[in-house]
This record gives sequence, C-alpha cells and structure tokens, in this order.
Amino acid sequence: MSGIDSVLKENRLFQPSDEFRTNATVSGMEGYNALCEKATADYEGFWADLGRNLLSWKKPFTQILNQDNPPFFKWFEDGLINVSYNCLDRHLESKANKVAIIFEADDGSVTRVTYRELYHRVCQFANGLKSLGVVKGDRVVIYMPHTVEAVIAMQACARIGAIHSVVFGGFSAGALRDRIQDAAAKLVITANESIRGGKPTPLKSMVDEALGLGGCDSVEKVIVFQRTSNKPEHWNAERNVWWHKLVQDQADVCEPEWVESEHPLFILYTSGSTGKPKGVQHSSAGYLLGTQVTMKWVFDYKETDVYWCTADVGWITGHSYIAYGPLGIGATQVVFEGVPTYPDASRFWQMIEKHEVTTFYTAPTAIRSLIKLGGDLPKQYDLSSLRLLGTVGEPINPDAWMWYYETIGGGRCPIVDTWWQTETGCNMIAPLPGAVAIKPGSCTLPIPGIMADIVDESGAPVSTGKGGFLVISKPWPSMVRNIWGDSERFAKTYFPEDYNGKLYLAGDSAHYDENGYIWIMGRIDDVLNVSGHRLGTMEIESALAANPLVAEAAVVGKPHDIKGEAVVAYVVLKGQRPEGDDAKRIAKELREWVAHEIGKIAQPDEIRFGDNLPKTRSGKIMRRLLRDIAKGQEITADTSTLENPAILEQLRQSAI
Ligand code: WT7
Repeated sequence: MSGIDSVLKENRLFQPSDEFRTNATVSGMEGYNALCEKATADYEGFWADLGRNLLSWKKPFTQILNQDNPPFFKWFEDGLINVSYNCLDRHLESKANKVAIIFEADDGSVTRVTYRELYHRVCQFANGLKSLGVVKGDRVVIYMPHTVEAVIAMQACARIGAIHSVVFGGFSAGALRDRIQDAAAKLVITANESIRGGKPTPLKSMVDEALGLGGCDSVEKVIVFQRTSNKPEHWNAERNVWWHKLVQDQADVCEPEWVESEHPLFILYTSGSTGKPKGVQHSSAGYLLGTQVTMKWVFDYKETDVYWCTADVGWITGHSYIAYGPLGIGATQVVFEGVPTYPDASRFWQMIEKHEVTTFYTAPTAIRSLIKLGGDLPKQYDLSSLRLLGTVGEPINPDAWMWYYETIGGGRCPIVDTWWQTETGCNMIAPLPGAVAIKPGSCTLPIPGIMADIVDESGAPVSTGKGGFLVISKPWPSMVRNIWGDSERFAKTYFPEDYNGKLYLAGDSAHYDENGYIWIMGRIDDVLNVSGHRLGTMEIESALAANPLVAEAAVVGKPHDIKGEAVVAYVVLKGQRPEGDDAKRIAKELREWVAHEIGKIAQPDEIRFGDNLPKTRSGKIMRRLLRDIAKGQEITADTSTLENPAILEQLRQSAI
C-alpha cells in the first residue's frame, strides 16, 4: 500500500499496557493533555521550568525566549552552562561507577566505560586539545569511526567550548574537504582506519587527500586515533599527532569552559535542495534541553534502562541520542561500531540478548533489510529484556511496523515512531509511549511544547482528514540557530516569505487522519531520503556534471523496498549516447565517481543515458516526468509544454 492509501486504511490502534502506562513518566492521555495545556497557557514558563529542572547551570538564566530579531531566536540567553558538565560531572556524585557506555566493537569484543572513567578520559582529551591551542569558538572536524573515542572527542570539544563538526566516516575526501573549508576548522580528529563489517577504511589517508585538495589552510593539526594496528600510509610529523601520545601526560581533570546558552555546540552538515550542504548550527543549552526532555518523555527513561540507539555519531541521531541525550540523563547505553549484517543478520538480536537491552532505537530501512535477510532469526534469541522500541529517519510501512512490534517487541513494547530533523535537534512528533495509542506508520502527535501543524499554501491550518505542509509555529529550544556563515539562506529556507517568515517550514508534506494523527508523506523539495539519509538531488547532479564525460545530469528518487527511496540518474554525455556494454561500463565509472565525490551513500542505483533531458521551452528540466519514467509508470502529467516529447520514449527504454 503506498503512502496516502495506508493513511486512509490503517486503523489498527495499540494502547500501552496498563503496566507500561502506570510506570511511565507521562501516564495516560490525561498526563499528555495536562502538559499540552500547560504549554499552551504559558509557553515560556513551560520551557523555563524544564530548563531549570533538567539542566544544571553555572549561572541560572532569568531571560527565557528572545524574539527581538526573528528568525534568530534566543533561549535562556543570560544563563551560563557547559554541556559536558551536564553529561559527566553532574553524575559523579551519585553514579560515578554506573556504566555509561557498553562498547561493542565490530569484532564483537566488549568494553565497559563508567561515568567516572568517561569523565577522566574526556578531561584528558580536552586538556590535549587545549595544549594544541584549541580555544572556545574554534571549529574542530571529527571524522572518526563509531567508537567511544568519537563520543570523547565530541564531549571534549563541548567541555572547552570548541564547536565540533562531525563528518560521517562514509563521506569521501571531497565531501570532507568541503566541510573543513566551510567551517574553517582549526583541527581534524580522525583514526588511522575505521572497521565495519570486517572491512577497513583508511580514514587518515582520506583526511590527507582532503587536505591535499586545497582550501584547508585553516587546519593546523590532525589528531589520529589508532583504531587498528595498520600503520598510516604517510606521517607528517609537523601536522599529525597520535591520540595516545597527546593524552598520555595530560591531567585527568579539566575545568569546563562556562559558555552562554546560545554558544554554538556544533555544526552538522546536511543536504538541502540546492547544491551545497548546509552547516546546521545548534546552540548549547536549548539543544541539550530538547534531548533531555525527549529522553524522559519519548524514551520514558528509567535509571535501570540499557538503552541502544543504532545510529552513527556522524548523523544528528547519533548526536542527540548517543553523544548527548543519554549521557545528559545518566543512562547506560550500548555503542556499536559495526553493521547489522555482520557476521550475519542476527547481530542486533544477539546484542539485545547479550546486553539485556531495554530500549532499542533504529531505522525502518534496517528493519526492512533484516526482515528480508532473516525474518525468523530473532526467534532464536531472548528479547524479553526489551520494553520500548523506536524508529527514526523515514516513514515506516505498516508491514515492517507489525513485524517489529510482534517479532521484536513480543507485542508488549510500544513503538515510538519519532519524526524530527537535523534542524529540529530533538524528536518533535512522536507518541509518548505511556500515553498515546500507536498506529502502524504514523508518528502520531506532537510532543508537548512543540507547536507542530499542517497548513495549506496560505499558511492556514488544514482540518482533520486533510493534508498540507508540515510547519512548527513557535520557536522551540533545540531548534537550528543558523546555517553556518549564511544567515540569509537560513531565513529563506526555514522561514519563507510565503508565510511572512512566521512559520518554520520543515520541508515535509503531511496528513491528518480522522483521529488527528499526523502521517508524514515525504519531502516537498528536491531532497531524497535513501535509507534514512538525506541526499540533495542537486548535490548528486553537480557531482555527476563534474565528470569530464558528462554534459548534463538530472537525479530523481524512486520507491525502493528496503531503502525507502533509490537514486536514479539521467545522464547526457558530451559524446554519443552509449549503448550495450559501453553503457554498462560508463555507468559503473560514474557510480564510482559519485562515491569518490560524495560517498557511497549517494551512488545512483540506476543510470539512464539519453540524447537529452525532457525540458520545457524555457529550458527547465521536467523532473515529474523523470520520476514517472523511473517508476516505470505511465506518464499522466501534462506534456504539452515539453520541447522534445520524443525523448521520453528514449529514456523509458534506456534502463541498463
Ligand atoms: C527528514 C529529516 C531525524 C533524524 C534522522 C533524519 C524524514 C525523519 C521521520 C519519521 C517519516 C521521517 C523527514 C525529515 N523523517 N523521521 N519518523 N517518519 N519521515 O534526519 O537527515 O535531517 O532528515 O527525514 O522527511 O524531513 P535528517
């Protein structure tokens, strides 16, 4: 069943069990409604109370929300805080010996790190950063494997007020260079290699390559964590510093740098509808507050939980729900370096049994691929420790939802389908599991204090049963503060003039069902969601167009059983349109090119060559037609404005 049909037909509703509801932080719809009413009656007071109760301040704030210069909102402006203090120091009194991180490496070996140990390791590394001259406000790029050290690097930056920009280890040297350059980073932290699914990736060599591409003069040092025993290819004694050497003589305490609430905690690049990725800039206090509120309400955090979020720290989910959220609240969490299919497709279920995981948070794409690779495998494991499941990143189809609910959750664990974005910082629309009844495929209702709505083109809210654009109508503490170095693009992208700059436009279309539940229908811009990862079509197009063989390229998405969406590229070469083996060979070359320009995640699944692209008389590519062709559908759209109708037939037959 495709999107809109499932919205109209899905009416299975699952209530939390009495036991779950009774023990939940927010219990029953009375509990949920009471919070929503409080937020409506006194919006600022609502968030101020949470800010006081959930965060520890050096200097408490007296100002709550500053809206003097929209859309550049400020929260808790006159407070002083340190995020790392909130994630580490404040737990030392009562839970220094509690395990903070259960790290399971790719090869299955397990290391446990207590809050006290993590605190000392962060302090030592923070002192190491200081010894290299890193000060408050400096940008530090982190290009690391998904290990404890990645979390330490992030926390150490937060401790000294340096602004981190984590670049996912799957991005190419070119993508890394662009991010280093845009943020003018002073330092890069990497590892000799990462290792996933038994395969090494030479991260350090990728950094060397990135720096070699030029434009990275801001970089003074590259810290290298030794993850494997293999020696890096080159060693530049001036620039390179081993992690273990840097920390060996450092003190294991480090006074936190107290920063203003609005001090940027990090930048994280994400794809938009134009070519260049955007540096989403987050604050310190407001951001942390969003993670804490949602750990408490959405993940219904309990002191005895063993929490596991399977994301990588390279994405926002890994920031909010690995590096900051769980540590801020003092949880024990599993950090897993590897992939769900290595050594086989039972890895997740094995690990849930082994570590007695209570709360499991993953992506629909992982669920779908694990169903395909071994839907019966979970039955061989004891998953009875689980009490709560979550999904994130893309809509989940009701079939996969039911499998997750029954086979993994044993029919007893609520599923929190969490809608949010890199820009929102924390979960925005998701069921509070002890209150809101869940429905397969819907992210249900907004979190109390989040003023989400669905509006029509004029900005007027649509009614029950209707669809439109998803917006947030009031600033919230963990919202994006800016696009790094591009305030104009920030205002234009998120607070468009169409709505008088008053509404945050998420970029998703959504629908209310008959119960007023929200269903996310997909992006309204040229952004694809491939395996829960956001990719800009223009970004892939520019990468293709940069290849010397290519004259022009257009990229669209098409539905994919496992990935959600797959990338389809239409390519016009400078020379003849290739056919047969030639076409296959060039397609392979172009796929490798994209992997090299952006990263493997952006590789087209399908490339079709044409003599031309379908364009209007004014030269605009008609992507709607390209989408229909990619889906193998009849073209229903109006083609009367098409300059070159014959091209459609050629492209239709061009699948290789
Ligand atoms: C886009 C944001 C949020 C962390 C991971 C992705 C889509 C996200 C859901 C969901 C349906 C979802 C939206 C959104 N999305 N969560 N639960 N149901 N769609 O972060 O890379 O910033 O992407 O992911 O389209 O706009 P991101």
